[in-house]
Amino acid sequence: MYMNFWYPVAACSEVTNEAPLTVRILSLDFVAFRDSAGNPHVLSDTCIHRGGSLGQGKVRGDCVQCPYHGWQFSGEGRCVLIPTLGADETPPARAKVDSYPVQEQYGILFAFLGDLPASERPPIFEIPEYTAADWRANKLKVFEVDYHYERSIENALDPAHNEFVHPKQGTPGMLLDFRKNPIQMDPIGEWGSGFLIPFTQKTPEGGLLAQANSWSTEVVRAGSGHFGPNAVVTWLKFTKENMFHQYFYEAPIDENRTRIFFVNMRHFLMDPAMDDRIVNINMEIAQEDINLLVRLNPVRTPETMTREVLMPADRPTVRYREFLKDWEKRGWRLDMKKMREMRGDVAMAIPCPARRTEKNWVLDEVPRVGR
Ligand code: FES
Ligand SMILES: [Fe+2]
Repeated sequence: MYMNFWYPVAACSEVTNEAPLTVRILSLDFVAFRDSAGNPHVLSDTCIHRGGSLGQGKVRGDCVQCPYHGWQFSGEGRCVLIPTLGADETPPARAKVDSYPVQEQYGILFAFLGDLPASERPPIFEIPEYTAADWRANKLKVFEVDYHYERSIENALDPAHNEFVHPKQGTPGMLLDFRKNPIQMDPIGEWGSGFLIPFTQKTPEGGLLAQANSWSTEVVRAGSGHFGPNAVVTWLKFTKENMFHQYFYEAPIDENRTRIFFVNMRHFLMDPAMDDRIVNINMEIAQEDINLLVRLNPVRTPETMTREVLMPADRPTVRYREFLKDWEKRGWRLDMKKMREMRGDVAMAIPCPARRTEKNWVLDEVPRVGR
């Protein structure tokens, strides 16, 4: 798992000024709440007084109040009230928790879990067609799965599994030309890569693709791409008119569980009455992947390529892993083994951007590989 990327925290509608929300991401707890102006905030969940979970507390005005001794923390993470202090005393400078940059996009509250200054941060994976009049976005679907998020991303990047895992959907098989050769991965900005290739189309017995008017097309274009470690898109282009784009923004809860925020875009079947039906069909397809991915061994992808036998069609997965290696070299990969050893003895936090400019932080920074 990697810091210094944007992670989906919750659906915007789940984050309120009525009660704080505790969310586990990257094996750590965070608290999300809105202030009196409606602005969302995401802080490290551990109170630096004596370890209370801020998410179990209350929202008070613009602050979250710890459930244990009532210390109040602003959206910037600063403790602004300690009930046992006199009215003329102010909380010490050390009384602060990490506060993370946030953005609301596509109905999702994202937090930047890392310490990079704004100018160096990778952006949120953009959905360029989100507001286009000829595209329709389904209502956000959030679901959880029992596997490591990298297995999920690699599955979405895998063109060779469709005809075996999703045969009911009449899902396409790879063309002969593409079977032997490594799939070319094109960059998606600075932080991702993807492919779009022609597939042969089998006649469906029903299912999602049967909805397309142009079903008789022999070849469809499809592909996928990742952006950062935890966002992925699948493009299905039956014709120039009939297209689906499926975006997954993934939050690793821990090494065995992942929360997926699914935004489905479509360029046909625009009737809002089709929304539920389309989501249901998509979730049926997702369930076919889930049934398979929960049984993969080992849970996360192996550390070295020698532990698998990879073929040219696995090139998208290999390319994704090259990006992960690069981010590891930058010191962004969490050392999960050390974290497991420390857990229970030491409270940890992902360092927030303020740690670059201020001293006096109470919680340990998470251990990272190679640092
Ligand atoms: S532990 Fe939070 S106020 Fe005491
Ligand atoms: Fe699949």
